[in-house]
Amino acid sequence: MHRIIHHVERGQGIPLVLLHGFPFDHTLWLPQLEELTDAARMIAPDLRGFGGSHGVPEVMMMEDHARDVNALLGHLGIERAVVCGLSMGGYIALAFAELFPEALRGLILCNTRAVPDGPQARKGRYATAKRAMEQGVGGIADSMTPRLIARASADRHPDLVHFVHALIAHQPAEAVAASARGMALRPDRSSMLASISAPTLIITGSADELIPPTDSDAMARAIPGSVLVTLPGVGHLTNLEDPEGFNAAVRGVLEQVA
Ligand code: MLT
Repeated sequence: MHRIIHHVERGQGIPLVLLHGFPFDHTLWLPQLEELTDAARMIAPDLRGFGGSHGVPEVMMMEDHARDVNALLGHLGIERAVVCGLSMGGYIALAFAELFPEALRGLILCNTRAVPDGPQARKGRYATAKRAMEQGVGGIADSMTPRLIARASADRHPDLVHFVHALIAHQPAEAVAASARGMALRPDRSSMLASISAPTLIITGSADELIPPTDSDAMARAIPGSVLVTLPGVGHLTNLEDPEGFNAAVRGVLEQVA
């Protein structure tokens, strides 16, 4: 039996699960939690280890996170939900789609990909885990923040840079290490994409440096009937950098599944 992960709930309507990226917590979704209350019953968990969710093992596989999300939905009495994940949240959303297809009412994959890490990226994950455990998360916040947010977004919203930096810096080192190790071990989910039958929206930013828009194009080609939205001039954190464009796209899929 899993301990139920910490989460916040906002709004009414179709259940919409918001899975944050690495290494954040549910606060990543503030613009959605504030603006989409009329459109969905939003459930934004802190993935295990992050924010207010404790008890993380040494390695947190994407499937472990997906099982936590499924246990949370069971706890809330929700049978089917639209599952939206950004980046690592998207890796988890794909694991969820594979493990619990019957619970999927819709899928929103943001700034993410189905392909696994290559050897170089995998080495980087283990270096991140080591650095977090030995030196703390501050240095990771310093090096990641400028790569996450497009220059144009940072110029437009200087507060965003501080918000993102602080959000990373206050995550526990154990959580960062466990999910970095889990991401390194995630399988290739390219071949399961064709079997996704839930309405699927794919969102990316044209200036995403971490996960290039070509990875989103590949998923859009592979998932039958999926819709791809590329937000111009936006980086890896589409939901924060362009909340209006992001929320409009999400409203579209919520109307489709209603
Ligand atoms: C994320 O935003 O979740 C991470 O950057 C994903 C990754 O490192 O692959």
